[in-house]
Amino acid sequence: MTFGEEESFKKPVKDTFEEEMKLEIIKDKMNEISEKIDSSEKKPIVEKPEKKKFQIFLDTADVEQIREAHSWGILDGVTTNPTLVSKTGRSFEECIHEIVSIVDGPISAEVVSLDAEGMVKEARELAKIHDNIVIKIPITPDGLKAIKVLSQEGIKTNATLCFSANQAILVAKAGATYVSPFIGRLDDIGHEGMQVVRDIVQIYKNYGFETKVIVASIRHPLHVIDAAKCGADIVTVPFDVLEKMVKHALTDAGIKRFLDDWAKVPKK
Ligand code: E4P
Repeated sequence: MTFGEEESFKKPVKDTFEEEMKLEIIKDKMNEISEKIDSSEKKPIVEKPEKKKFQIFLDTADVEQIREAHSWGILDGVTTNPTLVSKTGRSFEECIHEIVSIVDGPISAEVVSLDAEGMVKEARELAKIHDNIVIKIPITPDGLKAIKVLSQEGIKTNATLCFSANQAILVAKAGATYVSPFIGRLDDIGHEGMQVVRDIVQIYKNYGFETKVIVASIRHPLHVIDAAKCGADIVTVPFDVLEKMVKHALTDAGIKRFLDDWAKVPKK
């Protein structure tokens, strides 16, 4: 190839110009598309799982405790039982009416009948008080029958006195809205209550049961942390446990030191 022959490999100026123009048009189109993608609501290919909410209920029928906890802005609901109501010295109906007027969240009220028919009758009356009323039903064969009937009627239930994952499976199948494993009472007899909660959470997750787990019979703040760590939906805590949750000796000492130092700051 002699000098100058390579010139014959070059494209004519016109073709090169046309190609550059085409490239520019393609680039513009691509930018347009990518701008559209950016501004549109992009749906991720892998959807993030919905975040679970951790709820705190107060386990009491004492309205003063309920008012105080409610004023802290952290209270999601209340659970009562016949023992807790008896401690107030007031009538059951009086307590429940006042509680629903304070807290806008699920309020568990327990039936005392032992037969399914009686449980359903009591439950229907209690449910009339307020939409937020949840009927606490003990886990027995009659309890299961009652839960089934009530769930078909759209009345919310809290299957109570749960001490095993087997019981939790049955109430979920019967359609309970909530199940309450009593961990403190299991700990009291030398069984690890929290293990029952872990099993229930795992089983419900495996099969997509919608029954929510309320960790009940809580004795101390560590129970709350363990319940949250294992993915339980709710803890229902006595007021003294709630007070312990907010308190820390270093917070108190820190406040004292800040105030002591503040007193030394010259005032105008
Ligand atoms: C739960 O709903 C029960 O009312 C409660 O947690 C029972 O707790 P206890 O074992 O301290 O009586």
